[in-house]
Amino acid sequence: MAYILGIETSCDETAAAVVGSGEHVLSNVVASQIATHKPYGGVVPELASREHLRNILPVVRSALAEAGQTYRSLDALAVTQGPGLAGALLVGISFAKALSFALDKPLIAVNHLEGHIHAVLLEQLQAGHRDISFPVLALVVSGGHTHLYLAERREQGWSYETIGHTRDDAAGEAFDKVAKLLGLGYPGGPVIDTLAPLGDAAAVKFPIAQLKHRDRRHKQGRQETKARFDFSYSGIKTAVLRYTEAHGMRAQIENRRRILRSLARPTLEDYLSVCDRTTLNLVASFQRTMVDDLIAKSLAAARSYEVRTLFVTGGVAANNQLRSGFELRAHMEGLPVFFPSRPLSTDNAAMIAAAAFPKWLVKDFACPDFSADAGLVLVGVR
Ligand code: KG4
Ligand code: ZN
Repeated sequence: MAYILGIETSCDETAAAVVGSGEHVLSNVVASQIATHKPYGGVVPELASREHLRNILPVVRSALAEAGQTYRSLDALAVTQGPGLAGALLVGISFAKALSFALDKPLIAVNHLEGHIHAVLLEQLQAGHRDISFPVLALVVSGGHTHLYLAERREQGWSYETIGHTRDDAAGEAFDKVAKLLGLGYPGGPVIDTLAPLGDAAAVKFPIAQLKHRDRRHKQGRQETKARFDFSYSGIKTAVLRYTEAHGMRAQIENRRRILRSLARPTLEDYLSVCDRTTLNLVASFQRTMVDDLIAKSLAAARSYEVRTLFVTGGVAANNQLRSGFELRAHMEGLPVFFPSRPLSTDNAAMIAAAAFPKWLVKDFACPDFSADAGLVLVGVR
């Protein structure tokens, strides 16, 4: 068994985990900064870096203790290189580099998005499911990303081809911004997920941009034209805003914002006491539109690229309606679809340690002078 300590600090969670051979989670510790950023309605980069600095050592120590490991018993260290907030990434990278140097253990740099994809694989392997059919289409849908990757497993590791991405806001960002403009607090995804089943999803019709751009690819010497499967979610956020203006909802929203802000952990009853039927219908219609678009584009891409398996991962993959919708519609097309469990859908370090394992096998170690890359693109091996 190869024990890898994963470290993740790309955004607002300080996380460390020990994973054995890419499939046994021995510990998975996450220190969330939600309470720090909540008053600002979104992640404040400087505060995130400061919190990571404060949390990193205790989080790593607990991950080792829970796993029954020591610094010396580890085989390697893995850390998120990007994409993410540069200052936040640097905290994890500097810490991991110092550990690697002091312990004389290899350090593996991992792309955060590859981590999200490997969260799915990790749990499938853990459950004894080893015969995943390739190619895999992976929808990574989080606060910062909405990407469709065509993933293949090769001898030297995994390769990824981007076949679609958001042209503007990520899906999670749309959930967060809509919740914010409705005075529902931060982060928006979980609140909207909870409230949406209580409204009428057919009440409001939202248009979603259908992007027509086609992509030229070269395949086996001939040029082939394949549709790109891009997303766009800034329009729906504006449509929700216009709806609230047209329906005179401003005073109610301000009142809700004030009441919910005064509560440390609002319950469902608290939310219901400040949401009328129009608001619940609006939330339900918004979520239905987002979920339908994510599913329709992913399944269209799956058909076009004739993939054998679908992975859906990232924070928004925790959404109940998204999961059940994907399960139903992928099943109807005979396509196996896999998600991570909810704790592994949102940011964590087990996924980073798991994604590092194939790299450990081929000794794909980081150079000592590597640094944070806020806009790191996922390509994998060529
Ligand atoms: O993967 P993640 O933890 O961080 C990033 O890499 O961005 O994703 C966080 C995002 C946030 O936008 C949050 O609102 C969204 O995931 N999210 C959800 C749910 N839980 C988290 N969105 C919809 N429904 C949920 N249940
Ligand atoms: Zn993430």
